[in-house]
Amino acid sequence: MNEATPPLPPPIAADAGIGPYRAGELFAADGSAVDRRIFVDEHLYRLEQERIFARCWLYLGHESELPVRGAFFTTTMGEDPVIVLRDKAEGRLRAFLNSCSHRGAKVCRVDSGVTGAFRCPYHSWTFSTEGQLVGVPRQDAVYGSTLDRSRHGLREVPKVESFSGMIFASWDPAAPSLREYLGDMAFYLELMLTRMDGGTEQIGGVHKWTIDVNWKIPSENFAGDHYHVPSTHGAGVEMGYRSQLTNHGYCIQTGNGHSIGSERGGAQQGTAVPTEYDAFMARMRAEFAARYGQDAEAFVPIGVGTLFPNFSFLDSARFRSFRVWHPRGVDKIEVHSWCIVDKSMPAELKAAVRQRYSLAFGPGGIFEQDDGDIWQSVQDALRGHIGRQGRFNYQMGLGREAPTSERYGTPFPGSCSDILMTEANQRAFYRHYAKLMQD
Ligand code: FES
Ligand SMILES: [Fe+2]
Repeated sequence: MNEATPPLPPPIAADAGIGPYRAGELFAADGSAVDRRIFVDEHLYRLEQERIFARCWLYLGHESELPVRGAFFTTTMGEDPVIVLRDKAEGRLRAFLNSCSHRGAKVCRVDSGVTGAFRCPYHSWTFSTEGQLVGVPRQDAVYGSTLDRSRHGLREVPKVESFSGMIFASWDPAAPSLREYLGDMAFYLELMLTRMDGGTEQIGGVHKWTIDVNWKIPSENFAGDHYHVPSTHGAGVEMGYRSQLTNHGYCIQTGNGHSIGSERGGAQQGTAVPTEYDAFMARMRAEFAARYGQDAEAFVPIGVGTLFPNFSFLDSARFRSFRVWHPRGVDKIEVHSWCIVDKSMPAELKAAVRQRYSLAFGPGGIFEQDDGDIWQSVQDALRGHIGRQGRFNYQMGLGREAPTSERYGTPFPGSCSDILMTEANQRAFYRHYAKLMQD
């Protein structure tokens, strides 16, 4: 696996076109500087919908949200609303555009449930869980024999696959397999999600809220921005909800814009609210060390990470969360956030993990509030004519990457920096972004 891992993503070609711009106007070739317009430009935002959100594999939800045939939930892929379900016929995972083939109304208006069919509220055309048009009120009287039901099913998302319980989909019929898209990130996801027999499950429902910020700001933050922790989350550190940050740990880029990062021992270490999770983590570390060598302890927990473009996770020393930063216009996101646990954990431990998640993250979490407030201030400062001029700086830790295997041993793929506080993951994110956005 390591032999195939390039040490760095390819540089951004300055002359490549990105909509009305040249790539060189928007990015330094190594990703160490990024033009402010990519966070506010409407034209680029529309291009992102086409070139990123209609092509990449996007996270939809967890298989545990669809436990039976007919179970469904609604979400979006970019700005396109979709219904994700387990069909009645075969129990297959499928996704459909949540827009009626008659005149476009959303055929499903609720967040989740179990159903045998979807009846559009506008004129009551009805669709099966396989997406076929199965009911048309007064069909004979109003259409005679002219309406071909077989040509009016719901538009189906052509690619839906799951990986370790995570459901992803792509609108691109020519997209590579999900496994190929994840690349070396699959190794780290498996470390995180299959550390206990039985895999993972989502508990406590999905939290949804909005933040006035461009979707890339949280995506790049969760890619591994350890530098912000002592400052943005200073109050949480002072109160003992997390420990002081050192510069020990890793930031790893695995290709295709995906990356992970963690301080040694994991985020959210702190003595303010101890839980039984400490003992559980210690056991997991011992198991990892026995399986992969002593240095592998560093990967319990895995840390934060972003799967390009807009799925992030936080696997901390106290809890874990999955989240998607859904774009809602160039300057707004809708966050969907879940608490994830190992399925075979004791029920009391799951409850403790969920409590810690809600205290720190989710819409009422103190750390989530810190992040949202700062991110909104970034977007706010970009609104004016002057504020959108110039570039953001991502030069921290330039040139310090080397194969991860050199630091952590053979099984660990990707490129890794020798310090925790680096912007290598953000550079990898924007190099991949620029590649996908090119004409
Ligand atoms: S828009 Fe759905 S039935 Fe008319
Ligand atoms: Fe943060």
